[in-house]
Amino acid sequence: MTPFHEAVRMTPLEQRIRDRIAADGPIPVSQYMSMALGDPDFGYYVTRDPLGAAGDFITAPEISQIFGELIGLWCAIAWEQSGAPERAVLVELGPGRGTLMADALRAAEMSPPFAAAIELHLVETSPKLRDSQRAALGDYDVTWHDRFDEVPPGPLFLVANEFFDALPIDQYVKTKTGWRRRCIAFDPKTDAFCFMVSEAPLAEISEEMQNASIGEIRETNPSAMALAGELGRRLADFGGAALIIDYGPAQSATGDSLQAVSRQHYHDVLATPGEADITAHVDFQELARSACVAGAAAHGPIHQAALLARLGIGQRTETLLKSAGPEQAETLRAAARRLIDPDAMGTLFKALALTGPDMPPPAGFEGADFGENV
Ligand SMILES: C[S@@+](CC[C@H](N)C(=O)[O-])C[C@H]1O[C@@H](n2cnc3c(N)ncnc32)[C@H](O)[C@@H]1O
Repeated sequence: MTPFHEAVRMTPLEQRIRDRIAADGPIPVSQYMSMALGDPDFGYYVTRDPLGAAGDFITAPEISQIFGELIGLWCAIAWEQSGAPERAVLVELGPGRGTLMADALRAAEMSPPFAAAIELHLVETSPKLRDSQRAALGDYDVTWHDRFDEVPPGPLFLVANEFFDALPIDQYVKTKTGWRRRCIAFDPKTDAFCFMVSEAPLAEISEEMQNASIGEIRETNPSAMALAGELGRRLADFGGAALIIDYGPAQSATGDSLQAVSRQHYHDVLATPGEADITAHVDFQELARSACVAGAAAHGPIHQAALLARLGIGQRTETLLKSAGPEQAETLRAAARRLIDPDAMGTLFKALALTGPDMPPPAGFEGADFGENV
């Protein structure tokens, strides 16, 4: 490969990761994912707004206003169920363009006492997306944070849609000598990044993992679990409810779920870091467990389709259809189908609710005890 060709091909972040590997040796998957998404100069979310039909991927609130509206009502009901506290610390983790929160706040106006109690906090690391959120939420008094633990204490009402899947995972692979951490190295022969197995062992090995076959992969997500623990502590201490919507199996599973997407298509995870979104499945079972150990109660996970149906997506679509022209009507119907169809987002996406220990099941989660996938 000529130096000229190399210079054209390599992203600035690729060079930075190569330098890191040259200095420190192969890096864990979590470090690669953190750099690819959040490098302060070249990270994927730092340099762009990837959302929407013209971007790399589209999310539920960008598909239909009804998604955010129903979540706003969910929060208002959860606030009432929590005893209607004077202050409601309303938080969104990873608010993207601010679309979900703008729709949610509009719907929350249906409960003026809840709307009056809201203190709005957004946890967002991307400067570009903070600008979009400022534009979408211009009329509201917003405080931004880099991390959830900066959010002031108080009764918590929290939403996280497609946030946890962006938190960095680690991968472990079963080898003949036990479970070892999967790392990323640079292969000079192919002039590309490659996976390799390091000597670092996995700290905790369940009985089921001891029986795993050679080559099986197990993922862990320490930052997601720490965050779920912190959410659990806040909910136990101050009350409230959190709604986490994301994709992943309802029960912990083995396998490699690391994936990259660029322009609505799958992309090689190790190619052009910083230019593609990288995500991993959310382990709802472990998230719920971490929050429960810290004192919260967990409900679900349930399918996104079930949650939206119970919150009234059908009725809300009918209401909007009454004032829609033929073209707009078809768009509304198609958007609702996309959110709830099993072939689209309806069952791939799950919803997990965490609440204060004394709260009844939140709206849509009645009869959905932790672990029951309905
Ligand atoms: C896939 S987008 C989802 C956006 C939005 N929730 C939606 O549904 O349209 C992920 C969001 O999380 C933010 N994000 C990713 N990693 C983050 C982190 N470690 N801390 C705070 N925000 C993060 C991104 O900048 C983006 O706003």
